[in-house]
Amino acid sequence: MSTPVITVDGPSGAGKGTVAHQLSRQLGWHLLDSGALYRVTAYACTQEGVDLADHAGVAAVARRLQVDFVIADNGEVLVYYREQDASRAIRTEAGGRGASTVGTIPAVREALLARQRDFLQAPGLVADGRDMGTVVFPSAPLKFFLVASAEERAERRYKQLIDKGESVNLARLLRDIEERDERDSSRSISPLVPADDAIVIDSTATPIAAVFAKVMADVHRIFPEL
Ligand code: DC
Repeated sequence: MSTPVITVDGPSGAGKGTVAHQLSRQLGWHLLDSGALYRVTAYACTQEGVDLADHAGVAAVARRLQVDFVIADNGEVLVYYREQDASRAIRTEAGGRGASTVGTIPAVREALLARQRDFLQAPGLVADGRDMGTVVFPSAPLKFFLVASAEERAERRYKQLIDKGESVNLARLLRDIEERDERDSSRSISPLVPADDAIVIDSTATPIAAVFAKVMADVHRIFPEL
């Protein structure tokens, strides 16, 4: 049997990062945080002085990207760029905007495709992103697409940033989320849309524990041996 993959797609803040992380730990499967690859690409461009409007230059950066994922003792996934821990630097609001911008460039998506598929290794993979179920792993036997209202996602992000001690403006966060949704959903290549066979879960009014319980029920239905 081929190595199984479960895809978890959706807009930022819908809970897919948390669900994908928990799922990979529970099953003991590998985890692909594809957003981190787009974030590191944007970060590398800044480090190397490549303008994000220079599509050929950005694609060249994506092709030669030196990135490593390391699981810390607490289970957190650390992202190393050129052997330096870039996890904090890439997970900022600006990092998300940069990632969304480089993600509109077809040659960048092409450059990152094989790298993402390389994550598919035994015993299995949980892949988190925007186009995991539609483009990167279209034959995955189980696909989730998580959604939540933009207001709820902005609130969640607001609480996370306040907990980290950052000063933030809720209205601005909401505007950023809506802009990012629009850019991710309207791009011509691999837009943010659910695969036809994806299970759509709305987490707006559902606690993440209940979302995860629903996900696990589907996992046991599709993979009764687990
Ligand atoms: O999941 P994230 O917030 O880390 O993703 C950041 C951005 O990267 C997202 O707004 C769009 C882009 N991205 C993408 O285009 N395709 C993916 N599979 C994952 C992320």
